[in-house]
Amino acid sequence: SMGVHDLAGRPVIIGGGIAGLMTALHLAPEPVLLLSRSPLGADASSAWAQGGLAASLGDDDEPALHLADTLAAGDGLCDAEAARRILYAAPAAIEDLARLGVRFDRTAEGTLRLGLEAAHGRRRIVHAGGDGSGREVMRALVAAVRSTPTIAVVEGFDARRLAVEDGRVTGVLANCSTGPVFLASGRVVLATGGIGGLFHDSTNPLGSCGQGLALAARAGATLADLEFIQFHPTTLDGPGRPMPLISEAVRGEGATIVDETGRRFLDGVPGAELAPRDIVTRAVWRHLGQGHRAFLDAREKPGATFARHFPTIASACRGAGIDPAHDLIPIRPAQHYHMGGVAVDLAGRTSIPGLWACGEIASTGLHGANRLASNSLTEAVVCARWVAESVAGSKSGRIVRAIVRELPGPDPAPVRPHLSRALGVTRDGEGLKGAARALLPLAQRYDAASDPAAVGLMIAVAALQRRESRGAHFRTDFPDHAAFARRSEIILDAALAAV
Ligand code: SIN
Repeated sequence: SMGVHDLAGRPVIIGGGIAGLMTALHLAPEPVLLLSRSPLGADASSAWAQGGLAASLGDDDEPALHLADTLAAGDGLCDAEAARRILYAAPAAIEDLARLGVRFDRTAEGTLRLGLEAAHGRRRIVHAGGDGSGREVMRALVAAVRSTPTIAVVEGFDARRLAVEDGRVTGVLANCSTGPVFLASGRVVLATGGIGGLFHDSTNPLGSCGQGLALAARAGATLADLEFIQFHPTTLDGPGRPMPLISEAVRGEGATIVDETGRRFLDGVPGAELAPRDIVTRAVWRHLGQGHRAFLDAREKPGATFARHFPTIASACRGAGIDPAHDLIPIRPAQHYHMGGVAVDLAGRTSIPGLWACGEIASTGLHGANRLASNSLTEAVVCARWVAESVAGSKSGRIVRAIVRELPGPDPAPVRPHLSRALGVTRDGEGLKGAARALLPLAQRYDAASDPAAVGLMIAVAALQRRESRGAHFRTDFPDHAAFARRSEIILDAALAAV
């Protein structure tokens, strides 16, 4: 009937960032449909990644050291076995990308140039185009996907619901320019990225508003560690939205953080400017809260080489009338990454048969309570291979019923004030309860705001239920660690019932 397409057993990948593209490439030559809301590459947060991909490639490095740094930054909450498997596979994943045509930055001798970022004990970040890593990886992957005839790319499709029959995924309901369509398929991979669009201040593209989480949650999937949201300490403070990111690599090259008096107020913090991200963020946040201002001082280091090393950042600064070689750069923290997501095993399998997740939307347990810089693209590239193997090895179920109906949205605007206020760098029980109560009626309606509200509600309830501070989740009313680190799990019905 109208608007119904039987994909004849082909899997569907939702999302055109690095996770989705790599999954599609690994599935080839098995035919696959890749749904992207925007033209490929145009709206993916992957393309904005400045930090690169972390992998233990240096002569002084090994996977065990990368693992130790990851576990330390994760503040006790990482799944150590998942982290071990992913990080040991990281060097090979970088080689996969190089084979696919990614032009990484190299030394004069032709070896990969390795950068330093916060809380890494070794130089182990590969970059491309200085601070344009994501753009270069996306360029190469989009080209590879476009030249793979078995990958059908469908742009302008906004996935709005998953169909589930007898506990198995049976298809995707999507909006496109001609109206709603139902894509019948028993194998669906979510690769939709993060949630920055749910916040006023974020480094993410505005379209990253947790839509994949809403798809999974409404289908009944288990989500994990949702309360762990990373705020990047150094985004360019100004009117621009999304907030322009100033990569941690700038601090890796020696830039310091100072206030309006020139004081390096992180000097008492172990690791100072290169402490784990949650620690730097809280220190900056507190200092701002005390009425100070915060600046990145890159005048001495990297100094005159700034624009050559960091062309994207230099251009954002220039747009704000700032020359990093001569001026202080005003900064403040902004939402940057979601550690939590759809609970998956290392094959990307969710709690619902026929549904996989890969990339930022997935919660593998690698990041724990605070992601180590540049581990996210690495995770997406490594896990895409395992997701593809799992998808390829599983049979599609029988599809009986199709749903075709118009679902508006998503529109996160009504949700943003609540998450921005209650789920920022610091949280407390009163604020979280207030947000949950405000989001509940929005989540229960069927309008454009209800999916973002459902996601926000689940995050608020998860944060309320974690009565401790750990990693990026800081409760002023529970400032200490609990005795045991436990990952959290939640389903939508439980979140709705908890308020
Ligand atoms: C950055 O370049 O500071 C961001 C890197 C990351 O988020 O991993």
